[in-house]
Formats: sequence, structure tokens, C-alpha cells
Amino acid sequence: MDRIVIRGGNRLTGRLPISGAKNAALTLMPCALLTEEPVTLRNLPRLADVDSFGHLLNQLGASTEIEGARPTDFGRVMTIRAGRLTSTEAPYDIVRKMRASILVLGPLVGRAGEAKVSLPGGCAIGNRPIDLHLRALEAMGADIELAAGYVRASAPGGRLPGGRVTFSIVSVGATENAVMAAVTARGGTIIENAAREPEIVDLCNLLLAMGASISGVGTGTLEIEGRDRLHGATYRVMPDRIEAGSYACAAAITGGSVDLVGIKADDMRATIAGLADAGVTVIEKGDVLTIAADGPLRPLTLSTAPFPGFATDMQAQIMAMLCRAAGSSVLTETIFENRYMHVPELARMGADIQVRGRTALVRGVDRLVGAPVMATDLRASMSLIIAGLVAEGETQVSRVYHLDRGYERLEEKLQAVGADIERVGDG
Ligand code: UD1
Repeated sequence: MDRIVIRGGNRLTGRLPISGAKNAALTLMPCALLTEEPVTLRNLPRLADVDSFGHLLNQLGASTEIEGARPTDFGRVMTIRAGRLTSTEAPYDIVRKMRASILVLGPLVGRAGEAKVSLPGGCAIGNRPIDLHLRALEAMGADIELAAGYVRASAPGGRLPGGRVTFSIVSVGATENAVMAAVTARGGTIIENAAREPEIVDLCNLLLAMGASISGVGTGTLEIEGRDRLHGATYRVMPDRIEAGSYACAAAITGGSVDLVGIKADDMRATIAGLADAGVTVIEKGDVLTIAADGPLRPLTLSTAPFPGFATDMQAQIMAMLCRAAGSSVLTETIFENRYMHVPELARMGADIQVRGRTALVRGVDRLVGAPVMATDLRASMSLIIAGLVAEGETQVSRVYHLDRGYERLEEKLQAVGADIERVGDG
């Protein structure tokens, strides 16, 4: 199995292009199930999760065609055609590998009036139930049955009536499923306490381009009028705010100066504020974010929260950065109950972190030391890369498949800004 090997100590400098957003891609792709016409997505990141989602769409009878990407390009253009669906089932084998497969539930019920999706089960960062997804569909008139590890959702008479959905907790995925189910319902739907993440705005913008009727985009209340038909569209995936934030932490911890190119600063205000509070210089100019750090980093007190709060998907990376701050930081994880799996690995590199319940106390240290490490999820793996960039000696990060799920050509991008990093195989 591949490993990433880093020899720490190089300052990162130069230009680093930001890819299309993984989490946006994974909710834009299933929208293609809602129409017989082609949907073309530009700036789709080259990631294992995007490929897996493509395979899932193929299993349902949709074709996925990738155009003219040279191996040296970042991003791809994919055209998805779901003229006729041949299946409405997302099998266990796919769902267990990629939790986001649950996002075919809403569009399948919307298009075909029925769906059967394997229950995702547990996952490394916590329990992650799907009860909110199911309750939302029920509130729109779906019948839900759970049996033999599958959820079966069906619309009486083949089409959902629509209804009022009030979420008790803000959920990105459940909001996405509810929106995708509502746009072709027979009547109107109101979604209250909807997630406001930029990826949901991206989803709504694609659906609007396909002819949907949605108001309140970007707010906590979405009002949707169901349409009889949606049409095809061509749409550019938003920039990945988490990838950008991750590389910002990488630049900052090395005392470097990096231009992140192709970002949208408004999507990452909480990260920008955190970096600035830590003493990092952040300069915005159009779609370029310049990150420059010299001198010691200051400690932070931060809690994760739904957007526009500090993203849980940035917690591990900022923690790695704060391991080198001059003083003690306090991080609180409020979204997922088990999202500190990077802590013992960072500790093996010399970090001083104590976890009590949902809070981590991070005491800055003068030096981190390279070590063989591994992580059990995507962002946790990235935190080890960030630490490895300043650690003395060699860090080997195994289980690279986690990184391949969410970072497009990570080692190439980091090499280009001066990191001593390479991927090595076991053979
Ligand atoms: C999405 C993102 C993930 C990010 C997370 C929070 C994708 C593919 N993944 O995940 O990267 O970390 O948003 O920003 O976009 N919950 C329930 N019942 C449910 C659904 C969720 O209790 O039915 C809980 C979860 O356990 C969690 C909280 O709600 O505590 C928020 O989770 P949610 O926003 O749904 O995360 P995902 O959509 O799975």
C-alpha cells in the first residue's frame, strides 16, 4: 500500500491551485438523476470519492463521460446522462465505502418515486445516523421502511406531495437529500433549520440552472415549489474551501508564503479569521488568497459549528498548526463525537494535546519529530501531513487512500511549493 514520505523543514512558497470541492461534487452529481437530459459538471476534482460516485450512478443506469482531461490538468469535465434509470438501488458494497452514497436517496425518490439504499452503518468519525434524512422525506410524504440493512423509501402514487420539514439539528446531508427530493415534488416544500453551507448554495444553484424553483438560498429556510420536469445544465463546481484551508495551515506552520489560487474567500471566513487571530497574514485579492507567516503563531480558542461557524472539516488541520503555536489553544468539537483520532498520532510526533470530552487542550511545542503515522479519516490524515512538513526528520503517512478520497494530487501540489514530499509504494 502506498505511503506519503515527508522530510520536514522546508518553507512553502509559491502558487498553489485549489481544486473543485469534493463535498459539492458529491451532491451535484446525484442531481443528474433528476432529469432525462445531460448534466455537465466542470471543475470536478479528480478524487477517489468522485470516481466511486460515478460508479454508483452507472449502477443506476446513468452514463458518465469524462471529456478531454490531460493527465497534467487539475479537475475534469463530466457529463452525466440519466435518460432512463435501470435500478433504484444503492447496494451495501458501494455505500459502505462511501457514506455520501446516501445522497442518491432524495433524487431517486424524486425521479422514480422509489429508492432502496443500504444503511451506511458506523464510520470512523462517529455514529453518523441518517434519521434526519428519513424524517425529512417522511415529512414530504414518503413511506419509509427499514429492513435487512436497507432503507426503502417510496412516494405514494409515484410522486411526493411535498411538505414542511423542520430539522432538529443542522445536517448538511439531510438538507441536501430534502432539497433534491423536493424540487420535483407535486407541491411545495418548506425546509426549516436548513444547513447553510456553501456546498448547499452550490447545490441550489445547479438545481436553479436545471429549472427548479427555490427561494431562500443561503439562508436557514428554503422554500421550494416542485416542478414537473427539470432540464439539463452545465455547471462549474465551487472551489474547495477545506482544501484551501488545509493548505493555508500547511503554509502557516512552515512560516511560508503561498498564493492559494481559485478560492472564494466568502466561503471560508471562519478559517480566515482563525488564521488571522493566530498571527498569520491573510491577503485577499479576487480569487487569490495569500497566506504568509513569519514569527511565532499565536494560540487560539475555537469551537466547530455549522456554517458560517468554524468547519469541523478544518478542526484536525488547524490543530496540527496550533501544535507549533506559542502557548495553549483550546479546540472544541461540537459536530461529531469522535473526531480526535489524529490526536494520538500527532502525539507520536511530539505534540502535547490533552482531550477531555469534546475539548482538546493543545500546548504548543518547540519541535515536532517525524514518525511513521496513520489516520483513520481524510482530514485527520491531512493534519499529519501538515505536522510532517515541519517535523524534524522523516514522517511516513500510511493509509494514503484516505487522502486520495479528498485531496487532488496532494504531493504534486505540495512539491510545487517546495515541500520535500513523495508517494512511495511498498513494492
Ligand atoms: C457533511 C460533509 C462532512 C462534514 C459534515 C459537517 C459531505 C459528503 N460530508 O457530512 O465532510 O464534516 O457535513 O459539516 O458533504 N446527524 C444526525 N442524523 C442524521 C444526519 C446527521 O444525527 O440523519 C448528525 C451527525 O451525526 C452530526 C451532525 O448531525 O453530529 C451533522 O452531520 P451532517 O451535517 O449531516 O454531516 P454529513 O452530511 O454526514
